[in-house]
Amino acid sequence: MRKVKVNYTDYLKETLQAMSNTGLLLTSADKKGKMNVMTIGWGTVGIIWGMPMFLVLVRPSRFTYGLIEETGEFTVNVPPRKLNEITFFCGNVSGRDHDKFKEKGLTPIAGENVISPIIEECVVHYECKVLHKNDIIPARVPEEAISKFYPQGDYHRIFFGRIISVFANREVKID
Ligand SMILES: Cc1cc2nc3c(=O)[nH]c(=O)nc-3n(C[C@H](O)[C@H](O)[C@H](O)COP(=O)(O)O)c2cc1C
Repeated sequence: MRKVKVNYTDYLKETLQAMSNTGLLLTSADKKGKMNVMTIGWGTVGIIWGMPMFLVLVRPSRFTYGLIEETGEFTVNVPPRKLNEITFFCGNVSGRDHDKFKEKGLTPIAGENVISPIIEECVVHYECKVLHKNDIIPARVPEEAISKFYPQGDYHRIFFGRIISVFANREVKID
């Protein structure tokens, strides 16, 4: 592994591009270290209270939701294009009944500052600690978004993850 510490702004373009294409891989773990990975397509990176933050939107129905609630931590990993099939898989089966790391041969590496692992096969890794959370307020969502995204409710919780550290493998290309 050749992961080096980088600035949180170094891979913003690649991160946002991957998020809007096939998605990013978010890992979480319970207090005993049981880990899970799910795909996210919604989120943003920015500054809040003078600190770099990764905001992710997770629906209560996700297994991941309970894990982030339990430990208040997560990592976001940018997969290279060759992991497209795995990214799709992680966004379509639940950690409640699958060990996605094992089934797809993903290698967890212990996070430096968080209990959630980073994923060796990915290129960029954000380690985040939840500083704040907020639920989508249905009454303030445009009607067309309600019918398109929330026919069953299951309104996202927005986790504000303070970016503690960012690692990258500078030799591997995302595309
Ligand atoms: C491309 C893609 C993007 C997704 N983005 C999100 C997201 O931002 N938030 C969310 O709650 N679910 C999202 N999902 C759905 C979850 O990844 C999916 O329900 C997953 O199986 C949840 O895993 P878990 O139950 O192990 O947490 C996305 C799925 C795909 C395929």
